[in-house]
Parts: sequence; C-alpha cells; structure tokens
Amino acid sequence: LAPHDLAGLTVLVTAGPTRESLDPVRYISNRSSGKMGYALARAAALRGARVILVSGPTALEPPPDVEFIPVETADQMFNEVTRAFGGADVIIKAAAVADYRPVTVSHQKIKKSGQEMIIELVPNPDILAELGRRKTSQQLLIGFAAETNNLEQYAREKLSRKNLDLLVANDITMPGAGFDYDTNIVRIFGPHDEVEDLPLMDKNTVAHKILDRVIELRKSRQGA
Ligand code: PMT
Repeated sequence: LAPHDLAGLTVLVTAGPTRESLDPVRYISNRSSGKMGYALARAAALRGARVILVSGPTALEPPPDVEFIPVETADQMFNEVTRAFGGADVIIKAAAVADYRPVTVSHQKIKKSGQEMIIELVPNPDILAELGRRKTSQQLLIGFAAETNNLEQYAREKLSRKNLDLLVANDITMPGAGFDYDTNIVRIFGPHDEVEDLPLMDKNTVAHKILDRVIELRKSRQGA
C-alpha cells in the first residue's frame, strides 16, 4: 500500500507530447507516449495528493482521481500550466514540449507542388523556464531532460538555468529508457551537485522514486 505522504499537497504534472499544426491535416510532434507523466500522476494520487494532470495528446486513459486537463499545443500547455501553477506545491514537467512551431498555420490543406518546400519555425515559450522565474520558496519544481549526448553537462545546465529543485535525466539512446517504453533509466540531479543513478525499472517505480526525493527535499527545506 502506498504511503499517504503527499496528503494535503497539490501536485501539478505535465505529460505527453505537444502537437504544432501546419494545416488541418498535418502537425509537428515527437515520440512521447505520456507514460512517464501519467505514472507520476497516478503515483502522486495514490500517495494522497490532489493531482492536476495537463497532458498533450496520448492514447492513455487518465489515471483515476486526477483532475485532467487535455491540451494540444505548447501555447495551450503554457496557458493551462501557468493558470494552475499558483495553487501547486509540487510541479513535475515530464511533457516533451515542442521547442518550435510553424510560423503560420494554413487554414486549408497545403497542396503538394512537386517543388522543394521550406517550413519556417518560431520558438515556443519555454514553460519550465517561466515557472522557474515565478517559483516561490514554498514550491518544488522538477524538470526532465531527454538527452542523446553530454547528459550530465546538459542536465546540470538545465537544473541551474531553469531554477529547478530536481532534474530527472534520461539517456534516450539506452534501450529501455525514455520515449514510449514501459520502463526508464534515469539519473536524478539535485541542487547541491548530488546525483542518484537508478537502474532500469518500470515507469511506475521510477515515479515513486522521484516522489520519494520530493518528500526528502520538502523535509530538508522544512528542517532548514
Ligand atoms: O512520455 P513517455 O513516452 O513516457 O517518455 C517520457 C519522456 C522521455 C518524454 C520523459 O521522461 C522526458 O524526458 N520528458 C522531457 C522531454 C523533453 O522535452 O526534454 P527537454 O530537454 O526538451 O526539456 C527539458 C524540460 O523543459 C522538460 O521538463 C520539458 O517539459 C520542459 N520544456 C521544454 C521545452 C519547452 N518549450 N517548455 C518546457 O517546459
């Protein structure tokens, strides 16, 4: 039975990919299935938290006992997350947000011309970085990083640049880690250069391990 150690807390989780439309038929997206974020939402609810799950399009059923907010684009995710943020004690951003979107969305299906085609992209808002700027000392902000190289360097850089309390990094070149697998292999980077390496485990277990770290961090902050 899961401990009720998150009772009284509100946990805001993001999951899944975002979709950035080109026209009514096509979009740019990524391989996130939502499994990691949904596992976190399920685990937090089991541990007694009020859970808000903001999710891009996935094939998954929302876990029971969570407030589910479906979104499609990074802009929509930004709006919903910033709306819910003020009431959240813990924010965990497992979503794979598209960094760019097409500069224009055609209202009609783009016809093929046989010519080379160039799609112009503009950057999406970095939701996590914005939350890092707005965070109060009472809130814990946990980010993810999906990397293919220089994992440790990029993870530490994201932890400090985005003002995070924990950064969960997955090396997506490792079999069983990252996008779409039921399992993950993560390294959890803390604020004082500490690193916890977890072996291959199912995403539900990874979720509980991350929440264990959240509980520890809250205790250490309260004791400080
Ligand atoms: O969904 P699954 O199939 O289970 O796969 C899980 C996962 C691989 C998607 C997940 O474990 C993971 O690593 N999620 C983050 C993927 C990612 O987009 O990493 P990033 O390095 O691009 O982004 C870093 C952090 O900034 C993430 O917390 C992301 O949510 C956030 N971000 C990124 C861009 C942006 N515009 N806004 C953001 O908030």
